[in-house]
Amino acid sequence: MTSSSIDRAESLIAATPDYPEPGVTFRDLSPLFADGDAMKAVCEELIAPFVGTFDIVGGIEARGFLLAGYIAATTGTGMLSIRKAGKLPKPAAAVSYALEYGTATIEAPGVLTAGERVLLVDDVLATGGTIAAARQLISDLGAETVGAAAILELDGLDGRDHAGPVHTLFHAPA
Ligand code: PRP
Repeated sequence: MTSSSIDRAESLIAATPDYPEPGVTFRDLSPLFADGDAMKAVCEELIAPFVGTFDIVGGIEARGFLLAGYIAATTGTGMLSIRKAGKLPKPAAAVSYALEYGTATIEAPGVLTAGERVLLVDDVLATGGTIAAARQLISDLGAETVGAAAILELDGLDGRDHAGPVHTLFHAPA
């Protein structure tokens, strides 16, 4: 992986002002996901600090699935699908967390073994609520979160204060 690949990957993140509401800038990683070289570069960078330390990759619905599936396939590990509420018939654990308005819930199937080492991946770290809840979910299931990684960190939202350590590749204003 070259620095030009990772620089190019960052340039593929599109910013749309005033979406989904005035004053909010939407960061769309779809062009990055659609580019093979950029996808390879970011996935290699996301796992770089954690190579050899995880047994399974936890992807958070929906965009985290894209990264977790790619990383699981290229590292020969399994993938844990962390779902939004109501998608699993028999969730093994569920954690609710606060949003700006209201709450959200994530759930996991009962596929982890005791002490299994999980690497969490997602596309964006914003307030950190989602990754914090995913850490709790893994803990509730008797497994261990060995690390968390996200492509883009939105600055000014104190995401790390809530999520704990997260390896992020790029920064943008919230
Ligand atoms: C986005 C993003 C992260 C989360 C980050 O997901 O993909 O999962 O928000 O926000 P936080 O750090 O404030 O918790 P979203 O809920 O928009 O779901 P999606 O991937 O299905 O679009």
